[in-house]
Amino acid sequence: MKIYAINGSPRKNKNTATLLQKALDGVKQSVKDQEVETEIINLYDLKYTGCKSCFACKRLGGSSYGKCAIRDDLYEILEKLSQADGLIFGSPVYFGNISGQLQSFLERLFFPYLVYDSNYSSISPKRMQTAFIYTMNVTEEKMKEIGYLSTFNKVEFYLERLFAKPLVMYSNDTYQFDDYSKYKVECFSEEEKAEHRKIQFPLDCEKAFELGVNLIK
Ligand SMILES: Cc1cc2nc3c(=O)[nH]c(=O)nc-3n(C[C@H](O)[C@H](O)[C@H](O)COP(=O)(O)O)c2cc1C
Repeated sequence: MKIYAINGSPRKNKNTATLLQKALDGVKQSVKDQEVETEIINLYDLKYTGCKSCFACKRLGGSSYGKCAIRDDLYEILEKLSQADGLIFGSPVYFGNISGQLQSFLERLFFPYLVYDSNYSSISPKRMQTAFIYTMNVTEEKMKEIGYLSTFNKVEFYLERLFAKPLVMYSNDTYQFDDYSKYKVECFSEEEKAEHRKIQFPLDCEKAFELGVNLIK
């Protein structure tokens, strides 16, 4: 069994990456009797673009039908992910959306599997389980108030259509810097952030672990 975590943060050991690792730990615990391979794919280590609209993936009789034809760092990765049993995506929220790097990745992952038929059906070779972990500065209340959920829903809609309905979790009010005193920050209180990090982040880590436990049922 192969489960991949896709890290949409440029940081490899901060909020998003930490929660993705916890989720993979949860997966490993839940399927301990079975062989499970897990891997974190750090998107910011890879050189690639979003979809280039070449339509090779939709060309009838073409050698790339149902597959992305662009030969960059994602080519082999997408091949590997096509056989996954589970995909756990993680993204920091950037300007109210998922990170640009993850957005470009999803264009490449999604488009070859989306068929232009009357149902927009899926030709993904596997209906793998999916999950999405969002991390962000804003509090949970603010996230709901300013409409982030409707943006997130769009990604979740395609995950469900192409693969399976994602498990979702949010980590809010994240701790952003190692030392707030070194940066110009007036809109957050470091004390409150530090307190939240101490009390809430460990709970978020537990939630991510549980999400991993529940991924493969
Ligand atoms: C370019 C940029 C834009 C951001 N925009 C938002 C935003 O719109 N809303 C928000 O709540 N947090 C925003 N943040 C904060 C990050 O989402 C938050 O710190 C996140 O937990 C970082 O994840 P990481 O620690 O895994 O890198 C932004 C951060 C950066 C660097």
